[in-house]
Amino acid sequence: MHFLVTGCAGFVGSTMVDRLLRDGHSVVGVDDFSTGIEAFLEGASANPRFRLVRGDLLDPDVALAAAAGADVIVHLAANADVRHGTEHPRKDLEQNVLVTVNLLEAARRNAVPRFAFSSTGSVYGDATVFPTPETAPFPIQTSLYGASKVAAESFIQAYAEGFGIRAFIFRFVSLLGERYTHGHVVDFYRQLIQHPDSLHVLGDGRQRKSYLYIGDCVEAVLTALANDGPGVQVYNLGTDEYCEVNDSISWICQAMNVKPQITYGGGTRGWIGDNPFIFLDCSAMRGLGWRPTLTIRESVERTVAYLDGRA
Ligand SMILES: NC(=O)c1ccc[n+]([C@@H]2O[C@H](COP(=O)([O-])OP(=O)(O)OC[C@H]3O[C@@H](n4cnc5c(N)ncnc54)[C@H](O)[C@@H]3O)[C@@H](O)[C@H]2O)c1
Repeated sequence: MHFLVTGCAGFVGSTMVDRLLRDGHSVVGVDDFSTGIEAFLEGASANPRFRLVRGDLLDPDVALAAAAGADVIVHLAANADVRHGTEHPRKDLEQNVLVTVNLLEAARRNAVPRFAFSSTGSVYGDATVFPTPETAPFPIQTSLYGASKVAAESFIQAYAEGFGIRAFIFRFVSLLGERYTHGHVVDFYRQLIQHPDSLHVLGDGRQRKSYLYIGDCVEAVLTALANDGPGVQVYNLGTDEYCEVNDSISWICQAMNVKPQITYGGGTRGWIGDNPFIFLDCSAMRGLGWRPTLTIRESVERTVAYLDGRA
């Protein structure tokens, strides 16, 4: 099959591209390298079944040309930075909503039958039901990122309804593993490399979060795509466990063999838009036969090993 992967030089996108090529598919990848990393595409670039388009998907013509002939669009390009949303309020609208609409238009005009989208567990805002199922209400949006993903999901649903596109919406928890570039593990890792004796934590360290290994995430997306059906399918993606930020800190410190003095910023949220508890009900995805292969602790350790250059 022929795939268009957007955000192909990112953490998730480059892992997806490598997997699709390994499975024998042909892939066009688009990236503007705003956060993407050239080296992540080293293997793919040597493969004749891969073509890279350097371009900004905010330009509808870039999206339209890239989608020509695709059987599936896997849309991963985004502003994936939740924490700094309030510093640039238009960014989430542009990168997460308008880019998605450009790709939906490109799918419609090129008659691409299937569209997969990386949403987030942040859409549940401050959820009231745990583990949170796909059918839970979105009580209140606490981040511009979450709000932009809800808006993007809505456009996808309307395009699926209006134009018969089969859509797959994946609400990921935070991902970990090889090529990890942003999130708490790398933040703590960098602090500890510079100052092994001290660590500053945003919030009170009691935030409870679920995490998923990148390889398990990619496998889940492909499992869902193989179980094709009409309309819109929505899947939570995570592990059936959660941990406190403090647990994660202790695993990182053990893996790095450091015993820092820990200070806390205080408060139940690390930053505006942080959700103190994220734990998703992933039984729908499990119903397709998919299972995560790594625990949260193993994923954290894998990530530290990757950052150490050992993985
Ligand atoms: N990493 C996570 O923990 C996580 C969790 C939940 C959801 N997601 C979602 O998964 C997707 C991938 O996230 P990631 O962690 O790989 O992020 P990333 O920043 O590593 O990758 C995003 C890629 O998109 C590219 N990009 C951004 N805007 C673009 C544009 N206008 N045109 C072309 N390319 C553009 C960037 O250069 C980058 O390579 C995102 O949609 C993100 O919101 C990620």
